[in-house]
Amino acid sequence: MPTERPAAAPAAGPLPGYAAHFDEPEGYLDFARYGPPSRDVLTATADALARAARADHRTVNALMRAEPAARDSAARLAGSDPAHTVLLPNASTGLFHAAFGIPTGTVLVPRTDFPANHYPWRRTEALSRAVPRWLEPDDRGRVTADVVRAALGDGGDDVVALAVSAVDFRTGFRADLGALRDAIGPDRLLIVDAIQGFGIADLPWQAADVVVAGGQKWLRASWSTGFAALSDRALERLEPTLTGWTGVEDVALFDDLEHPPAAGAQRWSISNLSPVAAAAFAAALAVVEEATVPAIEARIAARVDELIDTVRGCGGEILSPTAPAERAGIVSFRLPGTDAAAVAEALHAHEVTPSVRATSVRLSPHASTRPAAADRVRAALASLR
Ligand SMILES: Cc1ncc(COP(=O)(O)O)c(C=O)c1O
Repeated sequence: MPTERPAAAPAAGPLPGYAAHFDEPEGYLDFARYGPPSRDVLTATADALARAARADHRTVNALMRAEPAARDSAARLAGSDPAHTVLLPNASTGLFHAAFGIPTGTVLVPRTDFPANHYPWRRTEALSRAVPRWLEPDDRGRVTADVVRAALGDGGDDVVALAVSAVDFRTGFRADLGALRDAIGPDRLLIVDAIQGFGIADLPWQAADVVVAGGQKWLRASWSTGFAALSDRALERLEPTLTGWTGVEDVALFDDLEHPPAAGAQRWSISNLSPVAAAAFAAALAVVEEATVPAIEARIAARVDELIDTVRGCGGEILSPTAPAERAGIVSFRLPGTDAAAVAEALHAHEVTPSVRATSVRLSPHASTRPAAADRVRAALASLR
């Protein structure tokens, strides 16, 4: 039997000022994979490309001004500043910069993390630089301070960094970044893949030395957008091994000499980004700043509550943490006795868009999601009985 929604939930519809920017379908519940961009992003992209199509001697420089606008906005949201922030085309590029910046030592990396946080460390190991030690999460799939402390107690002298997701792509577990920082101490680097939480979860990003995120999911900026925010410690410790021609001092001076890396986070630049993508990113981040992260977070929490309730009411088993402090926007579940492909088929038939894995289904709502999304999920799951 479907359970009733808690009495307070229907009052909390989508976040009005935020939802007004978007047109995604009612049943879209896959923001952990891709976040349909706002009309602002569409307009910014079309405008920038239209200007590029009529380029004259001013156009490229003018379009490039989107880059500092996006960078400043990302810096504010990360609790950082423009000198410590750099735009990147995706999260992976930031993780590669971090990995290749560590000359030697062991890096703790959750075995269950998204592979974007695995391959950089496999590559550095192959080049006899940083070596990953795969961390086993606890029995509930969580990477906690206790898990990290146990790994450090077990011969951790050679450990120079922890590289971890802020929000786990599979379970939705929200890491306690402050506790992880305490567990590793002030001398090791905390590298955070923030893509599943940035802009929707009010996390203490300043606890990390490296925060990287792509803009195509929860930030809703579409593909080829992202950034990294670096601490002073990261700038001191990480060697700029991948710095390209746009990451050095005097970029526009073509004197055939090697220039030193830029003093700040700009040293993580390999080449110019698309100014069209930067315009999209700036527009997307402006929507987040206007709505505010705590307000977005609260609406997502209401939608997540409804989805958890709905799935349980239909006999589903929730695989994600249910305590608000331990989750963000991801609800993974399975329906005992029904395989994930059949669940997905029923959801699709009710115009719900989930992520489908081999043995589970993942739902991820945003602050623009309407409570009616849970009604669609309920109808889809009920149809399987
Ligand atoms: C936790 C996590 N990190 C990284 C990525 C990939 O990010 P990007 O494509 O921006 O490198 C994903 C999903 O695609 C993810 O879920």
